[in-house]
Amino acid sequence: MTDAGNLPDEGERLDEGALRVLQRERLRASLRHAYAHVPFYRESFDKAGVHPDDCRDLGDLSRFPFTTKADLRANYPYGMFAVPRDRIRRIHASSGTTGRPTIVGYTDDDLSLWADLVARSLRAAGGRPGDTVHVAYGYGLFTGGLGAHYGAERLGCTVIPASGGMTSRQVRLIQDLEPRIIMVTPSYMLTLLDEFERQGVDPRSTSLRVGVFGAEPWTERMRQEIEERFAIDAVDIYGLSEVIGPGVAQECVETKDGLHIWEDHFYPEIVDPVTGEVLPEGEEGELVFTSLTKEAMPVIRYRTRDLTRLLPGTARVFRRMRKVTGRSDDMVILRGVNLFPTQIEEIVLRTPGVAPHFQLRLTREGRLDALTVRAEARPDATPEDRAAAARAVAAAVKDGIGVSVAVEIVDPESLERSVGKIRRIVDLRES
Ligand code: DLL
Repeated sequence: MTDAGNLPDEGERLDEGALRVLQRERLRASLRHAYAHVPFYRESFDKAGVHPDDCRDLGDLSRFPFTTKADLRANYPYGMFAVPRDRIRRIHASSGTTGRPTIVGYTDDDLSLWADLVARSLRAAGGRPGDTVHVAYGYGLFTGGLGAHYGAERLGCTVIPASGGMTSRQVRLIQDLEPRIIMVTPSYMLTLLDEFERQGVDPRSTSLRVGVFGAEPWTERMRQEIEERFAIDAVDIYGLSEVIGPGVAQECVETKDGLHIWEDHFYPEIVDPVTGEVLPEGEEGELVFTSLTKEAMPVIRYRTRDLTRLLPGTARVFRRMRKVTGRSDDMVILRGVNLFPTQIEEIVLRTPGVAPHFQLRLTREGRLDALTVRAEARPDATPEDRAAAARAVAAAVKDGIGVSVAVEIVDPESLERSVGKIRRIVDLRES
């Protein structure tokens, strides 16, 4: 049941018929905008033999070519912008680890839309005007900090712009300023958990009631772990710089059943990651987005590389995406078997004696790749508990995923902690 009082913005009150009509009109306008103002889109549409006028219905979008991260890199820095430079009010960059970063830009209206959508997300997460929000996503070129910040202000909240890092100070701020909501990566929330415990503060005793976690994949098991240890509701927020930043999709606190995509502004498709064919609703594949209202940097059929599936709406009319399984880039192929860090997370977190900290080491033995799961022991685990945990993790991976891995249960606090997005895979195959 939706609570009308909880849906103060117009987009959220549309019924499905009206939503599809709005999407169709906006899609046609967005295609025209991209084609008219970005040479890259003009060339790619022309090459594919399509014109914005060919898009009469939402289904026609599948005739248009994809846009990839490589296209954005090739047009670095300003080639994908559809408005004159003096209308760009802000720049962000995506957290690329290799090569050129990907630059994204926003007009005044884009920034305003982004704040509206993060405000909408926060409201869906259970936030209300007057709440105090602790933002521990990094501030800077990364979209997490500033995106969360302006959205929380737009909702009418008090913002603590803590950014990432200086963990002991974060704990102090949370105790002193008593925020009700925290916005942070789930992995950094675990770092904060350790710090609360180190300072002898019961994490369940804080003022925090809601955590809005995203920027990296996390599992239902991780939700349970964080909710129990902090006594909060943990909900998922999704987004990517190329599309706008955080606030593309958000899980509602009343259902916690996947993330409602703010479809009145971002049109989703799921495609086969290999063939690019659009998959029927409900099948798992790569998420693709087309922006419907963005000015500075429209994206047409942008390949996110994130794997998920689309589901019908529940708490909102908008379709949901299931929690992201992982990025296709983070998929490990081990003797022909595909494996994602989230699958290991599920296993590690349900194994007694093991803390929620783990890392995957990829090595090469002869001509074969090998994977070692390194997970931390809980402080109270005995040597026997550790040995049993190692056996249990290896057996669960073998049974559940179908591949043999080595498992090392390492000492408490010996694995690197996250301050933002965690790096799960350490690839030692080249060295
Ligand atoms: O991570 C934006 C963001 C900030 C989202 C804060 C949520 C909270 P990028 O740095 O461009 O932007 O990275 C985008 O991060 O394609 C996914 O692979 C991953 N990602 C983001 N949110 C989630 C999530 C921000 N909730 C990339 N679950 C995306 C899984 C996520 N992966």
